[in-house]
Amino acid sequence: MNAEPRTIGVGLISVGWMGKLHSRAYQTVPYAYPELGLKTKLVIAADTAPSRVDYARDVLGFAEGTTDYHDVLNHPDVDVVSICAPNFLHAEIGIAAAKAGKHFWIEKPVGRGYQETAAVQEAAVEAGVLTSIGYNYRHAPAVEHARKLVAEGRLGRITNVRAVFFSGYASEPNGALSWRFDKKLAGTGVLADLFSHATDLCQYVVGPIAEVTALTSTVYTQRPKLAMGSATHFAVIENGEMGEVENEDYAAALVRFGPSAVGAGAVGTIESSRVAVGPECGYQIEVYGTEGSSNGILSA
Ligand SMILES: NC(=O)c1ccc[n+]([C@@H]2O[C@H](COP(=O)([O-])OP(=O)(O)OC[C@H]3O[C@@H](n4cnc5c(N)ncnc54)[C@H](O)[C@@H]3O)[C@@H](O)[C@H]2O)c1
Repeated sequence: MNAEPRTIGVGLISVGWMGKLHSRAYQTVPYAYPELGLKTKLVIAADTAPSRVDYARDVLGFAEGTTDYHDVLNHPDVDVVSICAPNFLHAEIGIAAAKAGKHFWIEKPVGRGYQETAAVQEAAVEAGVLTSIGYNYRHAPAVEHARKLVAEGRLGRITNVRAVFFSGYASEPNGALSWRFDKKLAGTGVLADLFSHATDLCQYVVGPIAEVTALTSTVYTQRPKLAMGSATHFAVIENGEMGEVENEDYAAALVRFGPSAVGAGAVGTIESSRVAVGPECGYQIEVYGTEGSSNGILSA
């Protein structure tokens, strides 16, 4: 007879685009990974926008809702927390989650800069909680395969890498000025949002980068304002009040992989845009080496 599945209590902080997606992912655990013998229970969700709290209860299926994220961290039935808040809250909430002894998945970027990220890491290590970061593309089977090919030397000596993550979510000039375009709320622009994914994948497959030279560009310097929690960054506002875009739309870097990398000494380019007309979400990494019948090109 099968053992009774263990139930994991889930808490969600912020019910935006990612909050919905995380909720759906937790619900698939029992049938996507039956070998784990786990069930998930959506216990409580928090958002400062009351309509999103209602949505979490009425549509996503959370048993409880709140406008104060501390209620999620203090809830005795919550075992794991998804932190899907805008970037400026990540360090505060990540540290609070660790102090509350909750395991957490935190969305990228963990901090708006190195110090915030390091502070969250320190709190998590000190509390002994398990953590994961939203670099979800790592988990695609093709990426694991590429990493294995590189690690086994099947491409010979790695010579160069090319990674591109182009999205068009801000390609509409009247696309809303969400928190993503505000330095205080987001930190960097496409660097934190998309470039971080591409860099993570390069380092995951080939190893740590040691040298960088880079540039950025902002294509649209003003956009129509949007109140927090009222729509997503895909919203388009005609004739709205304009505000300043405070971070970059495009970033490109030339990189060199360090001596501890599997691909030590290899060089590469990484490029990201949030205003590309054409690709909705065009993500590609190419790894070139001195051997192998064909070089590895992964696209998403
Ligand atoms: N891993 C990925 O591929 C991926 C993709 C998209 C976004 N993200 C990350 O996910 C995070 C959220 O992005 P999003 O697109 O879901 O944002 P969003 O704007 O759709 O949602 C953010 C939500 O946070 C709520 N919020 C604001 N202040 C709050 C507070 N004090 N307490 C609780 N909730 C609060 C807002 O009301 C809103 O509902 C960002 O850090 C982003 O970088 C990751």
